[in-house]
Amino acid sequence: MIAAPPHGAPPLAQALLVAAVAWQQFLGGRTLEVALAEAVVAVRPAHPRAAAAAKDIVYGATRQKRLLETLVERLTTRPPSSAVAALLTVALSQLLAERHAPHVVVDQAVECAKRAASTVAASGFINAVLRRALRERDTLLAPLAGDDAVQASLPDWWLQKLRDAHPRAWREIVAVQRLPAPLVLRVDEQQLAVEDYLARLGEAGIAATRVGRAAVWLHTGRDVHAIPGFDAGLVSVQDAGAQLAAPWLAPPAQGRVLDACAAPGGKTLHLAQRSATQRIDALDVEAVRLQRIAENLRRAAISDDRVRLREADAARPDLWWDGEPYDAILLDAPCTASGIVRRHPDVPWLRRSADVAQLARAQERLLQALWPLLRPAGRLLYVVCSLFPEEGEQQARRFLQRNDDARAVDLPGGAPFVQLLPAHSAHGEPWPADREVPLLHDGFFYALFEKRASGTAPGAASTTALSAPRDSH
Ligand SMILES: C[S@@+](CC[C@H](N)C(=O)[O-])C[C@H]1O[C@@H](n2cnc3c(N)ncnc32)[C@H](O)[C@@H]1O
Repeated sequence: MIAAPPHGAPPLAQALLVAAVAWQQFLGGRTLEVALAEAVVAVRPAHPRAAAAAKDIVYGATRQKRLLETLVERLTTRPPSSAVAALLTVALSQLLAERHAPHVVVDQAVECAKRAASTVAASGFINAVLRRALRERDTLLAPLAGDDAVQASLPDWWLQKLRDAHPRAWREIVAVQRLPAPLVLRVDEQQLAVEDYLARLGEAGIAATRVGRAAVWLHTGRDVHAIPGFDAGLVSVQDAGAQLAAPWLAPPAQGRVLDACAAPGGKTLHLAQRSATQRIDALDVEAVRLQRIAENLRRAAISDDRVRLREADAARPDLWWDGEPYDAILLDAPCTASGIVRRHPDVPWLRRSADVAQLARAQERLLQALWPLLRPAGRLLYVVCSLFPEEGEQQARRFLQRNDDARAVDLPGGAPFVQLLPAHSAHGEPWPADREVPLLHDGFFYALFEKRASGTAPGAASTTALSAPRDSH
């Protein structure tokens, strides 16, 4: 493990050091979020921007993991120590990113190496490898340009699953998912018209585009508290694809609603803001995550009597359900998160292929446990942020086969199942008023089921694969 007090080191060297420590933690199985937090504690960088810069470096490096690992392999005759390999990886990512002059990256990587006990002896080697990478850059990169696995930068099994599931769209999915995650807001239309909010952003000099009915994309990232209207609950951070859940479930005005897997509460808040008269039960199995829902609701001044929060296992209603049926249920189930890789590029590397079947079983258990809680003619919206059919269409079809009293209801677009593929639209493209699906969004699967009197044979259901027109990446 790299560890050294970086006081006095130049800013990029400090960021590289934090990034290299985080990289080692990530390779050891930590999420990037945890790895970075642990690295900051271990390194204690003096520069105030070092942690944020390290985050950029590590997220960028994860999006190019296979390319960087291949380069390290080709530039070294035998495998370097894990500390040296980590520093080389993050430094190479900065050379490729071309954000700093190449000699600055090399000098600061060497500076960083000299300050850590585990890399000091290799500082000359690191210098030589990085300089060679600069000299031979084109020769090294050219043969890798046609290597799908390297370019996709995904584990083999993950890439194969994507290719099998989306034989025509996988390249585009991979290209979109390698872009940095966009910052998308949902405007609370009960309080403010989207056009008025866009005007307010314009006055504040913040570049933004409408990308969905209530979705606004800020072209550059910023702290949430620096977003106009965020602290007052006028806008929330929510992917435009996720913003479809509340209107597609559309619970009745006086209805009783269950949000079964609710944390951190993006969709709970959306449901609560759309109607002041519904009673919502929001469940999550993780107490810590439940607090995030409470924070979200507090920010938007939603009172406790409108949304009841509960720490509970949604798959065990015998432990928490009071017996009064729900008019609408939202099941935003735990999944592989294969649709939100652009936000969480570490996900494919932290999952194992066996997780897919395991998660599909957990989703099935949740669906079966919650279905009896719905009153006749009530609706259940099943959502996963996944691109894998085991969690999406296959899951939905199995559900219909198992439950005679379930009917698939058409979603906008005309099909009861919607597989939303990750999409990224061009700057400045105007929002067409008649369009249902946003222009820029993550990947989600949606299925809407309605309960009917049992005994009637279910009809055939089909899936629409929806994504925005993609004219620029
Ligand atoms: C995809 S996230 C939900 C995101 C949320 N609906 C939103 O829009 O912000 C899935 C959530 O399900 C929770 N979860 C997983 N298994 C659960 C269970 N058996 N019962 C209740 N919640 C569960 C997880 O803790 C996680 O917070």
